Parts: sequence; C-alpha cells; structure tokens
Amino acid sequence: MLARSVPPQTILPRDESRTPSATMRWLSVTDFRCYTQARLNLDGRPVVLTGENGAGKTNLLEALSFLAPGRGLRWARLSEVTRIGAPAQTWAVAAGLDAPHIPGAPMRISTGLLPASESGHTAERRTVRIDGSAQSSSAALAQLLAVSWLTPDMDRLFAEGASGRRQFFDRLTLGFDTGHGARLNAYERARQERSRLLRDEMTGRRADPAWLDALEAAMAEHGVAIAASRCETLQRLVQALEAHSGPFPHALLALDGLLEDMLADTPAVDVEDRYRAVLAAARQRDKEAGRALEGPHRSDLLVWHGETRMPAGDCSTGQQKALLISIVLANARILAHAGATPLLLLDEVVAHLDARRRAALYDAISDLGAQTWMTGTDRALFDAMGTRAQYFTVTDGAVADAAG
Ligand SMILES: Nc1ncnc2c1ncn2[C@@H]1O[C@H](COP(=O)(O)OP(=O)(O)OP(=O)(O)O)[C@@H](O)[C@H]1O
Ligand SMILES: [Mg+2]
Repeated sequence: MLARSVPPQTILPRDESRTPSATMRWLSVTDFRCYTQARLNLDGRPVVLTGENGAGKTNLLEALSFLAPGRGLRWARLSEVTRIGAPAQTWAVAAGLDAPHIPGAPMRISTGLLPASESGHTAERRTVRIDGSAQSSSAALAQLLAVSWLTPDMDRLFAEGASGRRQFFDRLTLGFDTGHGARLNAYERARQERSRLLRDEMTGRRADPAWLDALEAAMAEHGVAIAASRCETLQRLVQALEAHSGPFPHALLALDGLLEDMLADTPAVDVEDRYRAVLAAARQRDKEAGRALEGPHRSDLLVWHGETRMPAGDCSTGQQKALLISIVLANARILAHAGATPLLLLDEVVAHLDARRRAALYDAISDLGAQTWMTGTDRALFDAMGTRAQYFTVTDGAVADAAG
C-alpha cells in the first residue's frame, strides 16, 4: 500500500546528458550576502564550516545552492542576496570543477546577477556561464551538479503543507532527470495562464475556449512527464533505501498525487488524456476557486518511519531529521554510483544528532564519494570526522582554513 504510486516499470538508465563525476576544487563568492569576496581552495574532502551565529555559514551554503537551477536554499529573490552596501546591485558565485577524464576540464562554472543594463532584460535575471560561455538558462547547471540540501527550516517539513515536501522531492528528481526543472516551469506557466483566464471569466470576460484547450493540453503533457519522473525517482529511492541498512531509520516513501496514482496502473498517454478531461470538466469549479484544484502542483511526498511505522509527522524532531538524512544519503548514493556529482549541503544537521548517529553520518559521508558541506557552531561536534574533512572557520563574512 505504501508504494502505491510506483509504476510497474524498470529503472531507466541514468540521464546520459549529464557530465560524469567531477570534484569541486575552489569556490568563490563576490558581494553575496555578508561576503564582499571570499575564496575557498578545496582538496576534495568533505567540507566543514564552523563559526559563531551570524558568521556567514549558511550564506556560503546558499551561494553553493545557486550552482543549481532554482532560487537557492532560502528561496530568495536574486536581488535579495546582493550584499547590502555592494557598489553595484550584482553578485557572483563561481566554482572550479575538476574532472580529469572530461575534455576541457578543469572547468569554471559561474552564476550571478548582472545589472539590468548589461543583461538586456528589465526583469532580474540570473546569468550562468560555463567556461566563459553564457548559457541560455540555469538548467545547464543541473547537468554538472546535482545539488540537494537539508536546512534548519526543513525541521518543519513534515508538520507543514505539501509544498515544501514536493519541492524537496522535485529537487531530488532533478538530480536524476535534468529536464525536470524546465518541465515544472512549463507546467506552471500554463497553469497560471489558465487560472488567469478563468479568473477573467469571473469578471465577465469570456476566454477563448481553444486557448483554454491548448493550455490544458500543455498542462497535461508536462504534468504527466513531471509525475512520471517523480515516480521513477521514488522507485530508485525505495530500492536504495531497502538495499541499505544503517543507523538511520529506514524511510518508507510514497507519492500522493492524482497523476502519480494514475500512472501506477495506466499508460502515460491515457493518463494525459484523462487529466486533460479532468481539467476541462473542472473549469467551472476552478473558476470559482481561482486556480486548478487538481494536478501535480498538489502532489505530496508521504514518509513513514520504517521501524515504528509512524508517519514522519508524528515522529520526534530527531527522528524526522534522521529520516531526511536517510533519504538524502540514499539519493546521493544512487547519483554517486551512477557517476554523477552530487553536492550535499547539510546546514546545522549534526547538532540534532546523538554522538552515535553523528559518527555514523560521518562514516556515511566519507564512504559516499559525494561532495558534502556541513556547518556547525561548535568544532567539537565534528571530532569524529577527524582528518576525513577539510575545515574552515567562518568569522564575520571571512573564511579561513582551519587545521584538520
Ligand atoms: N544581503 C545581505 N547583505 C549583507 N549581509 C547579509 C545579507 N543577508 C544576510 N546578511 C547577514 O549575513 C550574516 C550571516 O548569516 P548566516 O545565516 O550565513 O549566518 P550563520 O553563520 O549561518 O549563523 P547561524 O549559526 O545563526 O545559523 C547575518 O548576520 C545576516 O544578517
Ligand atoms: Mg546558519
């Protein structure tokens, strides 16, 4: 029953468009949050950032999270992360990726905010460059790095509404399917335009039925692809979680969503037709609600504690954290095994764990072959990591090497 949304299909081979595994050799941030300029030279070991509250640890992880499509781990607007007092309304994050087996390596990837005058756009727009050449969108980054994170804000992930869990799961899905983000955007554009037309109808302006049909067809096409990709991610994670036992609880996962449910026993083309029919039949109801009430934008990730069978929302704070760790580690294991480059950002995660689980997390990270960044206020929390990590001290927006 728990895995009812897993369609009966075999796991697809990994996304062949992705560039194989690479190592981050340096990171540089300019006019980003509290940083005027900082550069970290990296030796490939997991990174530990320690410093007092407000020193700038999370800001560095946020800078790293912009090396993926999307709005970063704080879901910020682009101008919001510009350092207050910066001479221009711009910021930049750059990193060097070394991948000896890839022609052209080492490569330099960078992203940031250009002044509107230079970008040629009136709206804020993020620039992405790979080895100096401008990319048309941030989706190109997903081919190089699969970035996921756990932050203190996510402590309430299981207590709050579905959107946080959906975003969390979509980010994991993006790690396997680099086109997932573009399809989510395309679905969202069609959904918002349909909602706008339906709201206009409430004010007496009649919408062109052919335009509504076209928008619903686009929602159905992208929606089914989104749901199918989520189902594949679920299947991968379920298998990886089952194959691995350790000190972190076995997370049982399922997806709860109209299309994800339908895909369990119906071919994708038929699901697309059915969803289009659902949307067409729901125009009056959606008009009154002002938005589409059914679709992949409402899907939820359900999680249970495998040993106690408790829904994650009823587990203790530490158990919930351990479940999330279990999921992101499984995800990073699959990606690393497939030769991709997972980048795992664990903000204040270890503070919640007892000494045994902390030690187990460090062992798991060391075995992972993923690039992991951890933060904490207290260096002693990382004693069990020993020389397996590279340490930096963060003080008032400055980063310094600290002995390992
Ligand atoms: N746009 C900005 N410009 C300048 N400073 C900023 C900007 N945005 C946030 N800050 C400041 O950056 C500082 C560091 O924040 P950050 O969240 O990285 O701290 P932290 O080391 O993670 O602290 P904690 O241990 O409390 O989580 C804060 O004092 C915050 O006010
Ligand atoms: Mg912080």
